[in-house]
Amino acid sequence: MKAKCITFAYHKGGTGKTTSCINIAGELTKKGKKVLVVDMDPQGNATSGLRINKKHLPFSLHDALFDKCHNKNKTSLRDVILSTEIDNLHLAPADLDLAGLLTSMHHAEDITRILDHTLEDVRELYDYILIDTPPSYTFLLINAIVAADSLILPIDTGYFSMESIETFTDIIKNIEKKLGIRKPIDTVIITQFPEPTLHKICKKITQKIPQISRILPFEDPLKNLEEKLRMHLTIGTKFNGDLFTVPYSHEIYAAQRKGQPVPHYTSNTKIKKAYDGITQKIMSDINVRHTKIN
Ligand SMILES: Nc1ncnc2c1ncn2[C@@H]1O[C@H](COP(=O)(O)OP(=O)(O)O)[C@@H](O)[C@H]1O
Ligand SMILES: [Mg+2]
Repeated sequence: MKAKCITFAYHKGGTGKTTSCINIAGELTKKGKKVLVVDMDPQGNATSGLRINKKHLPFSLHDALFDKCHNKNKTSLRDVILSTEIDNLHLAPADLDLAGLLTSMHHAEDITRILDHTLEDVRELYDYILIDTPPSYTFLLINAIVAADSLILPIDTGYFSMESIETFTDIIKNIEKKLGIRKPIDTVIITQFPEPTLHKICKKITQKIPQISRILPFEDPLKNLEEKLRMHLTIGTKFNGDLFTVPYSHEIYAAQRKGQPVPHYTSNTKIKKAYDGITQKIMSDINVRHTKIN
């Protein structure tokens, strides 16, 4: 077993990175896979989202990264990893210490590959390693991108999120160029997708009375959005992946309150089906690790 490593990345906050990471991790375990969630965000939302108290951690991801960078061999990632309440779902937890890591990094040979090297110790133990990232362009995000076999981009439909796509593709292009590696964006998840009532009514009317579409030309907001996204991503990163939507759902909050991934909290709902579809796609992808481009 050699884990496929997938990073949930977008440099903007509130676009659904942590939510996607936890729920896809949960769905993968439901499908019989062994999963490690790595919390690379000092805010530790993936940690608390899996019901681990970040105030009382024996060790945190910071300790393993610090150790790797200083060759101390005192705290390995195996010491840091905790089981969660979900079978076969483990966590490398984070706390605020992670934010201070950069200041002690001057010893590192290659500051961009510390996480990648740290994960080597546990890659054999899991089918998938899912990395949650902070909402900013810092060396933590760069490390998470470098360690990834592929990237998932969770974005919401807000104006600012869409506007930032170009910046994100520039980030990827920069990293690829500087390090001579290719990091494919396999999947884009449009999270919190609104299904406005008006949109539904228009669709129903035009389906029932097709002639009306000549009088009231009906535009499908999702189709428009997908076209725009594909256009931006294709220019920036030669994107040839899949686009998924996850509908806006109050069940997200209910599951979070219980500290459970959605697939463990609810079954047979739209939101559960959305994560099921994304997870099936992830499992059907072939693992191509660290393709060199020069
Ligand atoms: N499909 C959804 N429906 C409703 N709320 C959602 C959905 N996905 C995410 N959220 C909410 O949006 C907020 C931001 O999500 P989060 O995963 O923390 O984003 P990020 O990790 O990118 O900062 C959270 O409060 C989360 O509960
Ligand atoms: Mg987050």
